[in-house]
Amino acid sequence: MRAFSHLFFSFLVILFAISCSDAFTRNDFPEEFLFGAATSAYQWEGAVDEDGRTPSVWDTFSHSYNRGNGDIACDGYHKYKEDVKLMAEMGLEAFRFSISWTRLIPKGRGHINPKGLLFYKNLIQELRTHGIKPHVTLYHYDLPQSLEDEYGGWINRKIIKDFTAFADVCFREFGDDVKLWTTINEANIFAIASYSEGFAPPGHCSPTSFFNCSTGNSSTEPYLAGHNMLLAHASASKLYKLEYKSKQRGSIGLSIYAFGLTPYSNSKEDEIATQRAKDFLFGWMLKPLVFGDYPDAMKRVWGSRLPVFSEEESEKVKGSSDFVGIIHYTTVYVRNSTSTTPSLIPRRQDFFTDMGAETICKIYFLFHSSMDQNMASWFLYLIKYSCSSFWISHGEFYIL
Ligand SMILES: *[C@@H]1O[C@H](CO)[C@@H](O)[C@H](O)[C@H]1NC(C)=O
Ligand SMILES: *[C@@H]1O[C@H](CO)[C@@H](O)[C@H](O)[C@H]1NC(C)=O
Ligand SMILES: *[C@@H]1O[C@H](CO)[C@@H](O)[C@H](O)[C@H]1NC(C)=O
Repeated sequence: MRAFSHLFFSFLVILFAISCSDAFTRNDFPEEFLFGAATSAYQWEGAVDEDGRTPSVWDTFSHSYNRGNGDIACDGYHKYKEDVKLMAEMGLEAFRFSISWTRLIPKGRGHINPKGLLFYKNLIQELRTHGIKPHVTLYHYDLPQSLEDEYGGWINRKIIKDFTAFADVCFREFGDDVKLWTTINEANIFAIASYSEGFAPPGHCSPTSFFNCSTGNSSTEPYLAGHNMLLAHASASKLYKLEYKSKQRGSIGLSIYAFGLTPYSNSKEDEIATQRAKDFLFGWMLKPLVFGDYPDAMKRVWGSRLPVFSEEESEKVKGSSDFVGIIHYTTVYVRNSTSTTPSLIPRRQDFFTDMGAETICKIYFLFHSSMDQNMASWFLYLIKYSCSSFWISHGEFYIL
């Protein structure tokens, strides 16, 4: 079982921070600041075929190769009370988790599964009883397999309507107790991993001699999926603001995966490449959310491969996030890519070649002789999680 939970990364980061500096205490942070941890349904719940849950694209994807799966995971579906107790003992003030769409609505739309509903109500109640604020992520990469089969999931605009209907059920059923909603987790990296690189479900990419996806097009699908995510987010957010916000008084936002990006050298071209990487990796999602359109740098490179917002869509996307979730693990160096940059794998046109910049993981990593084996392997996993996609794509990886 390799689907380790973000929860533990957060624990580690906290532990690490504490060991580095004894000088800070809770009192150094504002009252409203929340210390918490996070996970996702597929990483935590297990119980994948119990009580009416049906397969999501994660189940299909992880079972399609011998790569580990979330069939049992942390068994949170059965052990949530123990887990919440542990969280309370640790002093967590918030817990961010995601709702498994197929546990709540097994066919993707329509019938609500009473046992799924009860599980999330119980979990939310348990958190609140222990004084822990629930923060719900609606979508954490686990699309109902039935919707993927029916119309291709996120690359089809039909997803907007189905996602909004799913969100509606969640707002209606849980919104009296949940004040923080993230519509889509790490939307940028989800589009890249799932539709450009092919290493997250549904595993789409253009084939190369190194890695074959069964279907996909890395030069078009990530942008199509990203576009539909922004529209689906905006649609759910609009619904929340119209129907629920005044009564429930919560906030709704979208989260992105945010590397720190820093130029590899002090050359002008690496500096420009770093700005371009910021536009591509963050501006892609953030500029539409704030200004209603994509960054100019992306429009120039993508041309007709970049979907266009109609005026109405642009207005809807603009201002649709009360907050932006920033998920940060590590910092990478950015170097202008040239045709002579060595690469482990044959190039195809994909998100990173469009970006025209190499992202290089450079991690200063000291094995302390006192660090026990377990701790060391957590750190290695953290590095792998943060860097491996870039290593696979772009062939430079350092552990110093
Ligand atoms: C991807 O789509 C583009 C634009 O439609 C097309 O030119 C290209 O051949 C496609 N690539 C693959 C691998 O299917
Ligand atoms: C991927 O598919 C191509 C074309 O069918 C083939 O030439 C190549 O050997 C395959 N690569 C792998 C790793 O299976
Ligand atoms: C960056 O690399 C590209 C080739 O990929 C090259 O055309 C360009 O001149 C380089 N420098 C800058 C500043 O873009």
